[in-house]
Amino acid sequence: MGLLIKGGEVVTAEGRSRSDIYIEDETITAIGRSLCVAPGTEEMDAAGKLIFPGFIDPHVHIHLPFMATFAKDTHATASQAALIGGTTTFIEMCCPSRSEDALEGYQLWKQKADGASACDYAFHMAVTRYDDATEAQLREIVRDGTASFKIFLAYKNFFGVNDEEMFHTLKLAAELGVITTAHCENAELVTQLQRQLLAAGKTGSEWHEPSRPEAVETEGTGRFATFLEQTGAAGYVVHLSCAPALRAAVAAKLRGVRLYVESVVPHFLLDKSYAEREGVEGMKHVMSPPLRHKQNQYALWDALQAGLIDTVGTDHCPFDVEQKLLGKDNFTQIPNGIPGIEDRVNLMYTFGVKHGALDIHRFVDALSTRPAKIFGLFPRKGTIAPGSDADLVIYDTEYRGLISAATQHMANDYNGFEGFPIEGRPAAVMVRGKVQVRDGEFVGEPGRGRMLRREPQYGAHKVAQEADADAR
Ligand code: URP
Ligand code: ZN
Ligand code: ZN
Repeated sequence: MGLLIKGGEVVTAEGRSRSDIYIEDETITAIGRSLCVAPGTEEMDAAGKLIFPGFIDPHVHIHLPFMATFAKDTHATASQAALIGGTTTFIEMCCPSRSEDALEGYQLWKQKADGASACDYAFHMAVTRYDDATEAQLREIVRDGTASFKIFLAYKNFFGVNDEEMFHTLKLAAELGVITTAHCENAELVTQLQRQLLAAGKTGSEWHEPSRPEAVETEGTGRFATFLEQTGAAGYVVHLSCAPALRAAVAAKLRGVRLYVESVVPHFLLDKSYAEREGVEGMKHVMSPPLRHKQNQYALWDALQAGLIDTVGTDHCPFDVEQKLLGKDNFTQIPNGIPGIEDRVNLMYTFGVKHGALDIHRFVDALSTRPAKIFGLFPRKGTIAPGSDADLVIYDTEYRGLISAATQHMANDYNGFEGFPIEGRPAAVMVRGKVQVRDGEFVGEPGRGRMLRREPQYGAHKVAQEADADAR
């Protein structure tokens, strides 16, 4: 039996139109006015609402053993919170540590999500060590449909890889046609700066940013781009936070490096003064790269509107107050991360689209279409078109509310955006034709989400020297 969504205004990355959407089973089969549908077709009224393609969060942490503890959400809680906020697909970082087996880690992350996630999902496979055995496992993981890697240039001795390992990871990625996402901070500089600050008695959360200054991220971003250039691999900088790192990334794009850029909601809306607050209030706002001087936000918004920042994720990484207090005497032990999977769409709609910083089509592009395209999910996800999955967000632009930990669905006891006003929220959210959310409440089927298997799509790209040699 089909479902007809009537009277809404369909908004995609390309355009907008007042159209009805006809869904059969899990798939959109027709879009238009006065559609011919079978007698008895169920109808859903979307008059006065916008209809967006389901949003895709390209960077989340759910199961995460990190900094002597575990992130708080389960796949059940995080996925339901995601859906309530309009995110119908997330891509989770699968992060076994350097001392663990990559394939065992991958199986563990898959097991945790399977039957628990209420929305669809995929993984980026973290490469936290590179040796022959790991290489063979990575080939198997890509064959299983996980067509993106993750490397950390930061977090020395835990998730971090050295330059030799980065080189071999990128060579393999180029050979297999997968894209590599990267956390770009210089690990050695972070270690040395942390030591200096602690030795000088500077132990509070306000010292987190000075221990990882903009130059440390800019160097990491530039180095990652250079390694992409020399290996011919495609790459994606995660959670870019500041103008100098942005300039390094854009310079690489301009010289033809296949490099995409993500920034995350905290870097658009929060600044380093939040981490400078007294006691645990500051600790709640410790993440890496750190919240920066507010000045950077103007550059990030402009680059987002221009498409130089390709995507907006959350880097959802929930640690509660008790966990944050692990670092009360030493900022280097504050678990890094801020939750956000529930609030990304509403915050970016409010502070981007409603406040005039972001065109509505670029908003859809950055939060849905481009993540789908970059990570091999398009056109199944990321658009509203016949043949696409019926992942839809029917959006109420009249809603007014405030972000609050008291009403959130993420499994955490604080919200880094506490008190931020929201001008719009999903009235209904559908995953593959089934309504999972209505007016801020999960009403659907827990565990309905599926793992999305993806094909490698970044075929061989000649490295600079080979191209030069060919030209000669
Ligand atoms: O502070 C952060 N970003 N925590 C999560 C781990 C990471 O670096 O993405
Ligand atoms: Zn990171
Ligand atoms: Zn992250």
